[in-house]
Formats: sequence, structure tokens, C-alpha cells
Amino acid sequence: MSQSRGQWSGKLGFILAAAGSAVGLGNLWKFPYITYENNGGAFVLVYIAAIALVGLPIMMAETLIGRRTQLNAVGAFNKLGGKLWTPVGFLGVLAGFVILSYYSVVAGWTLRYIVMAISGELGNMAAVPQELDTFFGDYTANGTQQIIGLFLFMTFTTTAVIFGVKRGIERVSKILMPILLLILASLAIYATTTAGFEKAMHFLFHPDFSTLTRGAVLEAMGHAFFTLSLGMGCILTYGSYMRKTDSIPKAALQITLLDTLVAILACVVMFSIIFSNPDMQISKSAGILFTTLPTVFVKMPGGNFIMTMFYFLVAFAALTSTISLLEVISSYSIDELKWSRKRAALTVAFSVFIFGSLNALSLGANSKLSSFNLFGKETTVGMFGTMDYLASNWLLPVGGLLIALFTGWFLSVRENRIELEEGHGELPAFPVWLFLIRFVAPIAVGAIVVSVILGAEYQ
Ligand code: TRP
Repeated sequence: MSQSRGQWSGKLGFILAAAGSAVGLGNLWKFPYITYENNGGAFVLVYIAAIALVGLPIMMAETLIGRRTQLNAVGAFNKLGGKLWTPVGFLGVLAGFVILSYYSVVAGWTLRYIVMAISGELGNMAAVPQELDTFFGDYTANGTQQIIGLFLFMTFTTTAVIFGVKRGIERVSKILMPILLLILASLAIYATTTAGFEKAMHFLFHPDFSTLTRGAVLEAMGHAFFTLSLGMGCILTYGSYMRKTDSIPKAALQITLLDTLVAILACVVMFSIIFSNPDMQISKSAGILFTTLPTVFVKMPGGNFIMTMFYFLVAFAALTSTISLLEVISSYSIDELKWSRKRAALTVAFSVFIFGSLNALSLGANSKLSSFNLFGKETTVGMFGTMDYLASNWLLPVGGLLIALFTGWFLSVRENRIELEEGHGELPAFPVWLFLIRFVAPIAVGAIVVSVILGAEYQ
């Protein structure tokens, strides 16, 4: 069974694939703007603490469940926890579907931006104030364009998943991740030469705790989940293809460090560039990546080239993430429904595309979908906003809480220790991990869930 399921070729395969899953739009698109909204410094510190104290232990937990069972999310919870815990796996598969359906829409935008950056069109537009804003508004409201982007991105994603664990996912990650790091490193070096570099460093690394709100703390924790691909069985599924001879704690640490590094470097690059321009109006929203940045890029020497590299970076990061989301659902269909990999990937991708079209059309193309508001909040307008809210505020935190409780309290201490030490050797930090997964993670994630129930706005 485990033979036909596929396996990474070695420890680097798992690390790069999981890091590929983790590094995505969350790092390059969402983290910079929530850092900006929450005034940098102190928020960045809280985020790092959340990653270390909650993210890392849960990543180890998910990986150990996956590798122990060598099964998909549903099968894994069923095998270890029985009927009572199986719904946690289904929750994960559902979350994967929901996230993929709107994430791929944004990912699709990057394709359009690459084409426009290469042709120079993006540079021309960005040179005239307001023109890019107008374009962006029209583009997202253009149903045909949105569906084309979604379709293309889903096609790339599906192709990789069809090729399988080693020949598809691992291969794509092994090619794209180093390129991604190289592009980011070059941009970071470039950033140090810009006028805004010092100001950016100050903004990011001089914490002023008086600006920190309780909402910001919750947001940092929520984002720690999203950015590390936790709470829905994604890392669990990738862990199920891991060999028994590789170390889980080491891999989890490396993936976490890489993800954090990328998020922080992305901020250094973007804020240096943005602060270089004193009269820059930063859109205090998701727009930073698609409307603010090009207007600054274009003023720099070699701007068109840097712009092109940058959108390639974003597209690659997004692709390795959408692959991991599709793999969660496909893996479930392959293991549990006994579908072939090709049938699973194509069927799931097609359903995501159909459902995702509703999100794609909810950005202005269709008035019913655009004004739909299930949760009745300012931030949840439209299908797209609704799905993002549902996943980030409900599905992932609840899933993460249940995963922490399951590992910390349901699995035996012995079982946990055996799996974490397998391929690693003695783990002196085991009691620390146990404490974090039993107490710190559930309380921290529980706080998010409670605040969402109480209706706190932290998105
Ligand atoms: N972590 C990715 C990002 O930061 C997105 C992602 C991929 C994800 N798989 C996930 C988020 C699973 C939550 C759960 O862009």
C-alpha cells in the first residue's frame, strides 16, 4: 500500500514541498499588508512568537499523524481516532476546497500581471497616477478575465498533481523553490540600496508595544496558521509521504524558518521600495501587491525587469501552495474512494473550478455574488470575502484546535515520542513540545475561536 501511495525521494523532497506549500500568497500578499495595518514592529514580534509557540508544535503534530498512518487526512484520523475523530479529517478536506476556490482566483491575477509586465503594459499603466487603480478595478470586475485566470492556474496545479508525489509535486517544488529564493534574495539585496531601506528596517524591527491591539495579537496567531498551511491536514498529507528515516522535528523547524524568512524578506523588499517614495499613497488593503508596488517599480532603474521577476516570484509561490491544497482532496479521493490519481485530480479540480467561478465572478462581475454577505460583516462582502472569512476564521482555527487536542490529549505520550524520535534519535526537547501542544497551542487557538464566536473583528 505505502509503495503505491508514493513517497518523497528523500528529506529534501518533503522539506521543499512543504515549504512550497507554506510559502505563498500568505507571505507575499497578506503578511505585508497586515503588518502595515498593524504598524509593523510589535506585530512582527508577536507573529514570530505565534509561529514558534503555536505554529511549529502543530506542524510537528500534523506531520507525525501523517507519517504514522501513511494516510490522507480523513483516513489518518479514522485510523488513529476512530469514528469520533474522522470529522476532523473531513473538515480539513472541506477547508482545502474552500481555500483553493478563492486562492486560485488571486493566483490567476499573477499570470495576467506577468504577461503585462513582460509586454511593458504594466509599466506604462503604473506610470500614470490612478490608471492602475482603474485597471485593477475593471480587471477584477471582468468575469471572463477572472474565469480565464482561475482556469489557467487550476490547469497548472492539476498537471503537477496528476504527475504524482515524486514526479509532480516534488519535482515542481525542487525547481521552483530555489528560483523563488534566488529572486527574493536578489530583490532583497536590491532593497538595501534604495532610499527607503532604513525606514523599512525601522518600521519592521523597532517594536512599539503601545501600538499593539488585542485584535492584532489574534490576527498574528490566525495568520501563523494560514502561512504555515496548518489546521486542515495539508502538512499531514505531505507528512504521509515522508520516509521513516527522516527527522520530523528537524524538517518542521526548517520549513518554519524558511517560511518566516520569506515573509520577513518580502516585507523588507516591499517597504523599502514603498518608503523610497515619500509621497506614496499605500493602499491600506490587499491592493499593495497589485496596485501600489507597480507604481513604485516603474520609477526605478530597470523597473520593468524587476517587476517581471517579482510577479514570477509571486506566481511560483502561489503554485506550490495550490498544488498542496489540491493534493489534500485528491489524496483523500485516492485512498478512500479508490480513484486513480488522474481521475481524482481532474474531478476535484473541475469541481473547484466550478465553485471557484462563483468567487471569481463576485469581484464585481455579478452583482448578486458581489453583494452576497452571509456573515454580515464589512470584511465579508461577496462570495470571495465570505469564503476567505469562513476558512481563515472558522475552518482553520477550529481544525487546528482539534488537531492540537487530538495529538496532545488523545494520542499517548509514548506514541508521540516514538514517531517524533523515529529518524531523529533522542529528542531532549520532547517535554517542551508536549507542553506547547497540550496547553499553549489549544489555549492560544481557543482564544481565536472564542473571539470569532463573540464576533470580534480581527480580519
Ligand atoms: N500557506 C499558504 C500561503 O501562505 C497557503 C496554503 C497552502 C494554506 N495550503 C494551505 C493555508 C493549507 C492554509 C491551509 O499562501
